[in-house]
Amino acid sequence: MRTTVTVIKADIGSIGGHLKPSEGLLKLVKSRVEAEKGKLIIDCYVSHTGDDIAILCTHNKGKNSSEIHKMAWDTLMEGANLAKKQGLYGAGQDLLKDAFSGNVKGLGPAVAELEFDERPNEPFLFFAADKTDPGAYNLPLYLGFCDPMHCSGLILSSKMAKGFRFEIMDVSYTEKDRIITLNAPEELYDIAALLRDPERFVVAAVYSKESGEQVTAASTTRLHNIAGKYVGKDDPIMLVRVQGNFPATGEVLSPYALGHYVAGFMRGSHNGPLMPVKLNSTISYFDGPPVVSCAAFCVHEGHLTEAVDAFDHPFWDYVRQEVSKKGIEIRRQGFFGNAMLPMSELEYGGIADKLRGLEERFVTKD
Ligand code: 13P
Ligand code: 13P
Ligand code: MG
Ligand code: MG
Repeated sequence: MRTTVTVIKADIGSIGGHLKPSEGLLKLVKSRVEAEKGKLIIDCYVSHTGDDIAILCTHNKGKNSSEIHKMAWDTLMEGANLAKKQGLYGAGQDLLKDAFSGNVKGLGPAVAELEFDERPNEPFLFFAADKTDPGAYNLPLYLGFCDPMHCSGLILSSKMAKGFRFEIMDVSYTEKDRIITLNAPEELYDIAALLRDPERFVVAAVYSKESGEQVTAASTTRLHNIAGKYVGKDDPIMLVRVQGNFPATGEVLSPYALGHYVAGFMRGSHNGPLMPVKLNSTISYFDGPPVVSCAAFCVHEGHLTEAVDAFDHPFWDYVRQEVSKKGIEIRRQGFFGNAMLPMSELEYGGIADKLRGLEERFVTKD
C-alpha cells in the first residue's frame, strides 16, 4: 500500500514564556485532527516538544496535499485563537501569514513528508526539536548515513553498501527551493563542506542508492527568512525510515549521544548543546537547552502503532548529564565569541540599532 506520512508543526502559544503549550490547546488540536480519522486521514499522533505542537498524520493523498495542509493550517489557526483567549505567550507565533494558498510552506509552520510503498514492516522515527534551527540535523544525518563509526550497516549490510544520496538546500535563497544533490560516499567531502555551515545549508532529504527510496524528510523553514526579522526559532522536525535498506534505529540515534552545539537556546541567538529528551518534554535552563525528541513507530496500511519514546532509556540519562555539563560550560562565557551567534542570526534589531549609534561616536586618530 502507498502511504504518506505528513508532519506539520508550529508554535501557536505556550505557558510561562516559550515553555510548553497548555493542556487545553493540545486537547483542541488533538480532537480536531482525530475527527478526521477514517475521513481525510487514516491515523494521527499529536504531540509537543517544548512550545511546539506537531500534527503527524497518515493518509493516501500524497505529499503537498492541499486538503491535508489545509486541515493542519485550519487546526493551528483555531488553536492560535484559543491560545489568545487563554492569554498564552506568543499566541499564533509561527503563523506568519493570514491566508492559506494550497500549502503551509512559506506560511510559518514546518513540514516534513514521506510517501512510500509500505514494506511488510515499516518502522520509522519522528524527530522534533525545539530552541534550534533545521541545521541541527546536519551532523547527526551525516554521521548516521555516511560514517561507519556510527552506522555499522555501511560495512555490515550489503543493502547499504552503495550509500545514500543527499538533497541539501540553500535556505538563504528565499525565492524558490535551491537544492543540490550529492552522493555519499563518492562526494563525502563536498557534503561535509556544505553541511559545516548549518545556518545556510540544510539536509532536506536522503535517498537510498540501493532502492532509490526516500529515507528521510526534514523541515527547512527559516522563519526569519519569511518574516524578514527574528520571530522565534524554526524548531525543525524530521521523519526517518529505518531498517532494511536504511540504517537501523540505533544507528540513526547514535550521533545524538554527542550533544553537538547547535544554534538556538535563549532568544534563538546562542550556541548550545542539543539534548536528546523524552517525549513531551518542556524547556527550562536559559530558554533551553536546545532539545530533540524522537518517537518511534511502525505503520501498517496507514495505521500507526503506539509511539515508543526512543530517548527514554537509562543510557540517555547519562547523555543528558553530559550535555548539561556542555551547556553550563558554554554559558560560562555568556555573550562572548562563540557563545552567541553571528549578527545575521541574532534576535531583534536592538543590537543593530545600538551598534549603529556607537558607529557615529568612533573617531579616527593617527
Ligand atoms: P534482533 O536480533 O534483536 O532482531 O536485532 C538485529 C539487529 O540487527 C539490531 O541492529
Ligand atoms: P521558540 O522559537 O521556541 O518560540 O523560542 C524562542 C525564543 O526566543 C526563546 O528564548
Ligand atoms: Mg515560542
Ligand atoms: Mg519552539
